Amino acid sequence: SDGVVRRDRFSGGPARSFLSSLQADERIFEADLEVDRAHTVMLAEQGIIADAVAGRILTALDAIEVDGHGTLPDGEDVHEAIETAVIERIGADGGKMHTARSRNDEVAACIRYRLREDVLEAVETTLALRESLVEVAAAHRETIMPGYTHLQPAQPTTVAHWALAYEGAVRRDTDRLLDAYGRINESPLGGAAFAGTTFDIDRERTAALLGFEGVVENSMDAASSRDFLLETVQALSTHATTLSGLAEDVIIFANRGFVDLSDDYSSTSSIMPQKKNPDTLELVRAVAGDAAGGVQGLTTTLTGLPRAYNRDLQRATTHAWQTVDAVAEASAVAAGAVATADWNAETLAAEAGAGFSTATGVADLLAANGLPFRTAHELVAIAAEHSADYDALESAAQSVLGESLEAHVDPEAVEDALDPAESVASRDSQGGPAPEAVDPQLESAREAIAAD
Ligand code: ARG
Repeated sequence: SDGVVRRDRFSGGPARSFLSSLQADERIFEADLEVDRAHTVMLAEQGIIADAVAGRILTALDAIEVDGHGTLPDGEDVHEAIETAVIERIGADGGKMHTARSRNDEVAACIRYRLREDVLEAVETTLALRESLVEVAAAHRETIMPGYTHLQPAQPTTVAHWALAYEGAVRRDTDRLLDAYGRINESPLGGAAFAGTTFDIDRERTAALLGFEGVVENSMDAASSRDFLLETVQALSTHATTLSGLAEDVIIFANRGFVDLSDDYSSTSSIMPQKKNPDTLELVRAVAGDAAGGVQGLTTTLTGLPRAYNRDLQRATTHAWQTVDAVAEASAVAAGAVATADWNAETLAAEAGAGFSTATGVADLLAANGLPFRTAHELVAIAAEHSADYDALESAAQSVLGESLEAHVDPEAVEDALDPAESVASRDSQGGPAPEAVDPQLESAREAIAAD
């Protein structure tokens, strides 16, 4: 014998390429080498394989790493191909690498190992976005802008208040990703096919060598569960949903001339020479669809899968890679677009009072001066049908109260309430848009970024 193991008993037929994940496994090539190294070291330390054999296996793994994924021999997957490559290099002893494990715990370890990295990168993009939002907020504490509900002018607010609203949401997105990370970061290695092994392995040791926080205790759970993938993709999808709202806001703001996107994040038209389009943000918005598709695809694949390992799981993994790539990229692009956009303070100020957006503040003022809020609401609503000024309020007062507004409130205070900047300044309740109320929000955003 040439010492090379033949694997042509099964899976050599027309379904060969359908079965194989070798190409898709390029993503976990480095991870698999690390998992192989950790397992080999542990086997030697436990006296399960000889040190000399372990040494030769490790040397072969280094050479395989240098040669790269592209030079691997054919195989059903990267695990099999790397093992074959080790055997090709050092002979049959290379087959000792697979003592006391299965591809089932191996692939689960590889996915977790690689996904940790990817999730941390995604987390970094959320931090960059939060930093961009905080910078915008710090620069625009007093930049008045229209605030909307139902996309109708509602109440004036500030760019800082808007930016910190998204910072809060993205902060929770970061938390959800880190929370998922904690459960990704447990080692399934040593679970073997699902049923453990007769060999005296040290699972804590391989976990430590691979930098995992601990082990997935039950060997069947270790080899076959993929809820860690599902919660990661869900957290990514939630973040993509946040991003889509942010992108939509900025698209609308650009449309209204409130904000100018940097050329780096804009696109032109191949026919209309004057165009500057927010294409990058439209793509950010669309990634929410990809991510929701990832959640749906993964959920469907996992639904009803019996324990323990089933090959369906091979196709589950792809959803996670695609989702993490798309969302991390969208998040990074959103961070850049936000950081480089210019806010047009004048246009924003001119629009801040549009649609009688100060009406609520006027009603609040009347209520603070003793009118029942409902009566104040009615009075201002009647004025709003005419115009957003003192005269309209005065004639509404005559018809609702049968007396002048002055009987209830100082006219100067009413003029202030009608002014968008004063309106914002007066809404200083906790979390509100008044610059002094925004300062602590800015502070907690900075503290949270530093902590994450
Ligand atoms: N390529 C497989 C996967 O991604 C590895 C495990 C194969 N195990 C098996 N028993 N066929 O899930």
